[in-house]
Amino acid sequence: MKNIRNFCIIAHIDHGKSTLADRLLDFTGSVTEREKQNQLLDSMDLERERGITIKSHAIQMDYVYKGEKYVLNLIDTPGHVDFSYEVSRSIAACEGALLVVDAAQSIQAQTISNLYLALENDLEIIPVLNKVDLPSANVEEVTDDIVELLGCKPEEVIPASAKSGLGIEEILTAIIERIPAPKGNVDESLQALVFDSVYNPFRGVETYFRVINGEIKKGQKIKFVATNRDYFADEVGTLKLVQHPKQSIKAGDVGYLITGIKEAREVKVGDTITDAASPTKNPIGGFEDVKPMVFAGIYPVDTEDYEDLRSSMEKLQLNDASLVFLPESSAALGFGFRCGFLGMLHMEIIQERLEREFNMTVITTVPNVSYFAYTRKDPEVAVIVNNPSDLPDPSTLDHVEEPYIKATIITKSDYVGNVMSLCIDKRGQITNQTYLTTDRVELNFDMPLAEIVFDFYDRLKTVSKGYASFDYTPIGMRTSKLVKVDILLNAQPVDALSALIHADNAAHIGKKMCEKLRELIPRQQFDIPIQAAIGAKIISRETIKALRKDVTAKCYGGDISRKRKLLEKQKKGKKRMRQVGNVEIPQEAFMAVLKLN
Ligand code: GTP
Repeated sequence: MKNIRNFCIIAHIDHGKSTLADRLLDFTGSVTEREKQNQLLDSMDLERERGITIKSHAIQMDYVYKGEKYVLNLIDTPGHVDFSYEVSRSIAACEGALLVVDAAQSIQAQTISNLYLALENDLEIIPVLNKVDLPSANVEEVTDDIVELLGCKPEEVIPASAKSGLGIEEILTAIIERIPAPKGNVDESLQALVFDSVYNPFRGVETYFRVINGEIKKGQKIKFVATNRDYFADEVGTLKLVQHPKQSIKAGDVGYLITGIKEAREVKVGDTITDAASPTKNPIGGFEDVKPMVFAGIYPVDTEDYEDLRSSMEKLQLNDASLVFLPESSAALGFGFRCGFLGMLHMEIIQERLEREFNMTVITTVPNVSYFAYTRKDPEVAVIVNNPSDLPDPSTLDHVEEPYIKATIITKSDYVGNVMSLCIDKRGQITNQTYLTTDRVELNFDMPLAEIVFDFYDRLKTVSKGYASFDYTPIGMRTSKLVKVDILLNAQPVDALSALIHADNAAHIGKKMCEKLRELIPRQQFDIPIQAAIGAKIISRETIKALRKDVTAKCYGGDISRKRKLLEKQKKGKKRMRQVGNVEIPQEAFMAVLKLN
């Protein structure tokens, strides 16, 4: 055990985590030329395209240092706030972390939030100043920033370039010398932390774990504590670029487990694996069932595809346990599903996977957070509102609560004013303002999560000219004045366009929504009035003017193939349209409330 080191890399997005991981694998000879790909740890297609590590993995490297053999387990952490619980469990499986900071960008919001997670878990932090090869690198200043942040010595910061390979040997030395070896007792009852799982359609779910005490043996009957289910360990092993089956994985080490589990939800990140015959009395702390934060309706564009959509969603759920869904129906859209996601990125990923892997064309309705509504009749019991239509009749309401977050924003001092007005506009309350350096400021706000769902990132980017980074953590429910704004097209309410909005903003947002819908809904043969309403009260109105000419009119008597082409083109444009009453609504319209600026 004394020659094992378990570590992760924490960094703000694009600061070079994957490139550095790649370089460490190279340097330790863990990869053959043939196995080499651009970004070794990012294996999902989608992931690569987005440049975000969506699912964490682990990889083992062998390294000889001063004549002794060491085993280095690198546990990868996903880089997005939607997956922060997974990040926290990966961190809990380690004794140390490389804190990678881009020498041109310095400390950003995710650097700090991940650092706090690492410090909470008592990890040894090794600061790495990456990208020192860049002409824009600010080596001295950024080193000072890191020293200030960590309270470490300047000599402890390792200058590196994951690109050129500079500093890699120093990093490996620091991993061995500074990160403590795991503690633990092989003779105790098995206690292993699940930090990740991956769905493999052929082998079932692969569980990634870190053994804290005891050992996990091939063939052993094991128990997952949180789900209280027993399985046989069909295969255990260590993870290199490919899996290496072993007879046993002992305390201190990291490995994978295959048990024939076929559904992702049977393996919960943060759960404890123990021996079924003599279970541990101390499951590992910090287990949480991850809860979806954002909800939206997903409907097939073609109502006949409902059953196909259901089976696609079920298949997706087999390998993504954080996706939840329930059937719902909408007067406007027919049968579909109310889906829960970890965040906006997760929602986009699911939508994309439905389209790419299952060839579904879907309409997604405006996302909302989960509200608690309390009625006067039963003020103790919360009605959970995951869909605007679930909001009880306003006349019966006692109060409504909405989820709040603590937002961390780091920006340049020039933009503090802009960022503050944006956050205040988004119902944020400033709780803290710290100058990290003369030019860099950390701002903290308490803000409703719902405001983040609505076009926050884009506006933050705009008001700070790109010089702001952002991260958040949930801080619980708070009372809120909420109303349901309905949209009527042609005097008919379209339930799928309803949104829950803070009372103070409702009039303004209702007006903007009508304007936006007027832009987005194509003109048709007749005038279409668009109205926003709260209850029976109309708060805004716009009209889509009738189309003057038939699109094909000018082709009459003309070339028939040209006419066909035009019709084809129209058909394509229709792909993501839904006929609601006698009005055709494009997908963008269902998301209009997100893009009002
Ligand atoms: P996410 O996985 O999206 O969180 O990003 P990451 O932190 O893994 O960053 P990644 O390794 O993908 O690097 C981001 C970009 O920086 C890529 O274009 C890299 O080629 C580049 N990069 C990484 N390290 C260095 C470095 O030392 N020098 C220079 N010049 N570029 C680097």
